[in-house]
Amino acid sequence: MATAAEDRPTGIDFGGSGIKAAAVDLDEGDFATDRVRIDTPQPATPDAVAEVLAELLNELPDSSGPVGVTVPGVVRHGVVHSAANIDDAWIGTDADALFTEATGRDVHVVNDADAAGLAEVRYGAARGQRGLVVVTTLGTGIGSAMVYDGVLVPNSELGHLEIDGHNAESRAANSAREREELSWEAWAKRLTRYYSTLEALFSPDLIVVGGGVSKHSAEFLPLLEIETPIVPAVLRNKAGIVGAALVAERELRG
Ligand code: BGC
Repeated sequence: MATAAEDRPTGIDFGGSGIKAAAVDLDEGDFATDRVRIDTPQPATPDAVAEVLAELLNELPDSSGPVGVTVPGVVRHGVVHSAANIDDAWIGTDADALFTEATGRDVHVVNDADAAGLAEVRYGAARGQRGLVVVTTLGTGIGSAMVYDGVLVPNSELGHLEIDGHNAESRAANSAREREELSWEAWAKRLTRYYSTLEALFSPDLIVVGGGVSKHSAEFLPLLEIETPIVPAVLRNKAGIVGAALVAERELRG
């Protein structure tokens, strides 16, 4: 049975520069409304973000369904447990409870890469792929989602693997490419080191590369020297919102 328009879940993507929301049609894996956006408050403390979520939901008055929100940190049962690239105040915050209270809606948080991974497996670059899919997002940090036969193992945090004595994301994230003004070739070498470590540890069947830089994948993916098939994400900047909405709907069904 199709979901009534107002009961559709809403996905919210909490990013470094903007917080974006849309109601999502889970049959299509696409937005059911226009996307609304508000600049990320600075500092982006949990309370400041909660206020923005309430404002965004007011701008989407036709939806009353559950709400999923991405968070760039470890999330267990609604509580945030790490804050590599966000305000330290997030650590220990029960974000499900805070956001539910602030918005009056049924809100569930999910790690940002896990949301993107679920969306790519269900609707995008890894649709129909059996076995182990590793979805990575290359941005300020490196996010990861491990999905086996469609089932997510949450909070894999593969951006923080120690490789050659470094926290991997400090060398291979897109922010490292920008900060150090690396050529595509130089960055591809670092990515080869990173992805060959993932290969050695997990033997994935498919690797998906997301994050804003994935729109330039033609510049760097062909330069990677790894065995595993590696493809760009296809949902691009919709993946977080769509994946968060998927999580909200699942939580509702329990
Ligand atoms: C965080 C992850 C997050 C990733 C992408 C990492 O630094 O530890 O939780 O998924 O950045 O935002």
